[in-house]
Amino acid sequence: MTDAAAVVPAPLASALARAGQERVLRFWPTLDAAGRSRLLGQLAVIDWDEFETLQRLASRRQPAPPAAIDLAAATTPPCLRLRDPANAPGPAVAVATGERLLAAGRVGAILVAGGQGTRLGCHGPKGLVAAGPVSGANLFELLFGKLRAVHRRFGRRVPLAIMTSSATDAATRRFLGESGHCGLDPDFVHVFRQHDLPAIDAATGAILLDAPDRLALAPDGHGGMLVALHESGGLDWFGRHGVEHLASFQVDNPLALPLDREFLGYHALSRADFSTQVVSKREPGERVGVVVEQGGRHAVVEYSDLPPALAAERRPDGRLRFHAGSIAVHCFTKAFLDRAAARRDSLPLHLAHKAVPYLDELGTLVRPATPNAFKFERFIFDLMPLARSVTVVEIDACDGFAPLKNPAGSAADAPEHVHAALVDHARRLLAEAGVTVADGVDVELDSATILDAADVAAALPRGTHIATPQVIRGMIPRT
Ligand code: UTP
Repeated sequence: MTDAAAVVPAPLASALARAGQERVLRFWPTLDAAGRSRLLGQLAVIDWDEFETLQRLASRRQPAPPAAIDLAAATTPPCLRLRDPANAPGPAVAVATGERLLAAGRVGAILVAGGQGTRLGCHGPKGLVAAGPVSGANLFELLFGKLRAVHRRFGRRVPLAIMTSSATDAATRRFLGESGHCGLDPDFVHVFRQHDLPAIDAATGAILLDAPDRLALAPDGHGGMLVALHESGGLDWFGRHGVEHLASFQVDNPLALPLDREFLGYHALSRADFSTQVVSKREPGERVGVVVEQGGRHAVVEYSDLPPALAAERRPDGRLRFHAGSIAVHCFTKAFLDRAAARRDSLPLHLAHKAVPYLDELGTLVRPATPNAFKFERFIFDLMPLARSVTVVEIDACDGFAPLKNPAGSAADAPEHVHAALVDHARRLLAEAGVTVADGVDVELDSATILDAADVAAALPRGTHIATPQVIRGMIPRT
């Protein structure tokens, strides 16, 4: 054992004492040098000032930070519907604007892929889960393909920042290396890792251990993106690539349309700091957050924070009062993210009561069946109230929203639902191009070569009939 690992540095010892967390070292005498240095390493990166905030939040047991807006007085903001000729400016102008931005290399992309995928039962990145209905391609391959398709169409690469976490970083980097970055130019890919936060015992406020030399840590939520991107130099990296707008999306939605030209066009034409895509929520019980507006401020309210009576309220036209279901596809100006990253308090912490495995006093690993601990997360949509201007664009879920959250056999958002959504989407685009598909036959659009129905039409003559499962590839010349 080295001397350095034999002692707890004095500043850390006093931070632990101030926070009342000395018991986190209770297995110290039994640890070898490697175990001691692992534990010290984890403790060293805890921000002990922030830890006080975690303790305060946990003692109040208040899941959500105070609302930025008064819900009783809030409404659903006006939404531009994708492809609606009634929009001002109209779809054609928006598409042309989006195309100009992409062709000028002004758009970058941020993929958040640090989640633990606990509901799905992931051991490692969710991005590695197979989701291509015919190809069996994983979520990373399907999503990165979309960036390649934009490059082929517009001649400019879209710089991509990928957020990982302690749960996904090593395997994501390995996959990128082994797959040749799925055909993306590595100079246009920036991988950055979000921070972890400790889980704390709901009854005692103690930091939990899940091994004698390991804290029970969890990634700090998709909102961890703001600080981690900034600290990793990612915002400057985008700046060096000439990027002015950043579209963000999640790894578990293979239908996501972050680079949709019309969406980008409305974002730029409206001079919004923050634009976001929504789908229409039809039933009060749908578990999606909603975009709301009050007094000129916008916010996303999680479904668990929307009182049932308000969630069920309908307008005279039959639509839910709060119908703008957030699907976590956003576009920010880079200037807005720069401003938000410069403030320490941009994103508040949310509290989640979860079942977290932990070591008891005797060192036995306990796997609780019911919530025993608090985890802490930041959400990227909490930037919305800080935006000077927000644009909301409604899309049809069948065009751009097929989230993979739950294991097979679940009522919603399970692999079979994602499979069906991708096949339905492909069938619709094929039908638009005059291509028929035999009943019950799976088809898949190659995301790297097919952007839209025009690419399908160029690939297959009208009247083509597809009788066996296949991946449809576009005719765009390879670059
Ligand atoms: P979810 O909130 O659905 O979480 O993430 P999850 O980790 O994928 O799944 P569960 O809740 O453990 O079952 C939505 C998106 O945000 C990313 C995820 O990778 C996914 O793309 N995310 C979530 C992060 O990048 N970091 C986080 O800390 C949490």
